[in-house]
Amino acid sequence: MRALIAGNWKMHGLRADIAAIALPLREPAEALVCDLLVCPPATLVEPVAQALAGSRVAVGGQNCHSKAAGAHTGDIAAPMLRDAGATWVILGHSERRADHAETDALVRAKVLAAADAGLTPIVCVGETERERMAGRQTAIVGAHLAGSLPDGFAGVVAYEPIWAIGTGHIPTPADVTAMHAFIRGELVRRFGQGGLSIRILYGGSVKPANAAALLNLPEVGGALVGGSSLKADEFLAVARAVTA
Ligand code: PGA
Repeated sequence: MRALIAGNWKMHGLRADIAAIALPLREPAEALVCDLLVCPPATLVEPVAQALAGSRVAVGGQNCHSKAAGAHTGDIAAPMLRDAGATWVILGHSERRADHAETDALVRAKVLAAADAGLTPIVCVGETERERMAGRQTAIVGAHLAGSLPDGFAGVVAYEPIWAIGTGHIPTPADVTAMHAFIRGELVRRFGQGGLSIRILYGGSVKPANAAALLNLPEVGGALVGGSSLKADEFLAVARAVTA
């Protein structure tokens, strides 16, 4: 299973930035041994998909609605992302869970909508610092998995400890290993053999300096990269840390 390095631009990027952030990924992506994905804001999905057309870099959205269409002012539906050139979508990111009160049940509905539209979902799970301090991290992540993943889930899971996002703090290798082993166990318990082929990404302050150490841990099938995905050279350096 190839590793996936996914860039989450969050609420950053104007059309003028595509030349600096997306275009420089085209050529180098050919030589990578991992899959590369960029998830720009909704307004840039189409122009970024055009800029990367014919390359090995895929494009995704950062959210979608649980319905395919309807009276939902300001929302974006999965078929719209697909129509704009996306093939992936990030769902249940902690920033959406916090800013928009997204529940596990809503994330699960969005996963189904994404799959119906032909998008591969990346479902984010992870504990707060307070929850980790209380030793509740596996209970929290287990609940996220149970609630957010529908039966027959065919996507990617991203473990993103909330306290590691944008902070420069990362869990110890032992903590990442333990959590990814826990997630793998939950996926196999729920989906049987199919649970073995679900990639589990790590996300939270992944940078060129720590990428090799994180990406070589057992059951780490790639990374979800925020800040470092906004500079093409840094994002490529993270991707080049994948060696097998
Ligand atoms: P970060 O964000 O790499 O800037 O910590 C990761 C994420 O939120 O997906």
